[in-house]
Amino acid sequence: MNEITPDRKKAAALTRQVGIDFGAALTVALAYAGDRLGIFKALADGAPMTSPQLAQRTRLSERYIREWTATMAASGYLDYNPTDATFRLNREQAMVLANEDNTFFMGGAFQYAVACYRQLAKLMESFEHGGGVPFTDFGGDIVEAIERLFHAGYETWVAQEWIPAVPDIHERLLVGGEVAEVGCGAGQCIIPVAMAYPSSRFFGYDLDQASIERARRKAAQAGLAERVTFERIAAEQLSFAGRFDLVMAFNCIHDMAQPRRVLAAIRRIIKPDGAALWSEAHAGDRLEDNLTPQGRTMYASSTMHCMTVSLAQGGEGLGSVIGADQARAMAHEAGFTRFEQLPVKNPVHQIFLLRQ
Ligand SMILES: C[S@@+](CC[C@H](N)C(=O)[O-])C[C@H]1O[C@@H](n2cnc3c(N)ncnc32)[C@H](O)[C@@H]1O
Repeated sequence: MNEITPDRKKAAALTRQVGIDFGAALTVALAYAGDRLGIFKALADGAPMTSPQLAQRTRLSERYIREWTATMAASGYLDYNPTDATFRLNREQAMVLANEDNTFFMGGAFQYAVACYRQLAKLMESFEHGGGVPFTDFGGDIVEAIERLFHAGYETWVAQEWIPAVPDIHERLLVGGEVAEVGCGAGQCIIPVAMAYPSSRFFGYDLDQASIERARRKAAQAGLAERVTFERIAAEQLSFAGRFDLVMAFNCIHDMAQPRRVLAAIRRIIKPDGAALWSEAHAGDRLEDNLTPQGRTMYASSTMHCMTVSLAQGGEGLGSVIGADQARAMAHEAGFTRFEQLPVKNPVHQIFLLRQ
């Protein structure tokens, strides 16, 4: 084999991989359909069903259900029993595909992917002419997708592990302090954290009006409207100084047009003895460390959403793949003197603690 003769085995291996990815891309779209049409939820009780029974339960066309269930069984998303031609969600599949309130649930990922697919034509225009696709163009699906992807994690980890890992702040919030969250989305983090610290007051800030309205509705439904307020404002424009005991910025700094100005604003609005918690998804600082399936997911979602929404505002387009060294450099550039990684293990987030 010389340099100019392609290795047919390597080409065949790549063809197989692309074929698998092709099937995965189509499966994601069909899983989205199953999520939105309530098919996974109709299987949530684990009862085995034939495709006619499932069609009857969901009131959907049997022919489509038959083809869909075959796709899902071939994907490992459903179990199939050939003896009676039934499909079922086993307990683990139900956690990932049907039950919204646990950290393994991935329905939001299908919704996120399809919201991105829908904007592909505009994204390609941005490849050609620069700029980006605005956050609002992704529509309500993206707000809901992000909420569904992350809420169970925030409900499980933030007040239980992340804040208690900073004991002085935890103590202050138990007694009664003030907490801000920038890029709060639909309130998926701040609302459960507010429930855990009933003596403290909470202020959520986000640029997206639809997210803020959704957050306000949820806070009111939870009976928290007095103690948890939301405002539509760009984080870099917050005008307080030395006010908050804690500022949270989870999974959002990378989406922002001016992430460095936002970090500087966070530093300005915390008290001199306050703290900021900033999370990004786990990533290494070097591209070569991120050439993994997880890295692929992050670079792809960054290109299709996080980076482009920042560029659409004439922003930096930081991208969502951020290692600890880059985060440390950005924190120091913003004037923080202390930067450390929170000593908690998390499957999704790396969490940084910043102090004046
Ligand atoms: C990926 S979402 C994360 C939402 C939430 N923190 C979570 O982790 O589920 C990023 C959020 O940042 C918001 N955002 C973007 N730029 C902003 C800015 N300059 N100021 C405040 N919020 C901003 C977006 O509207 C969006 O709700």
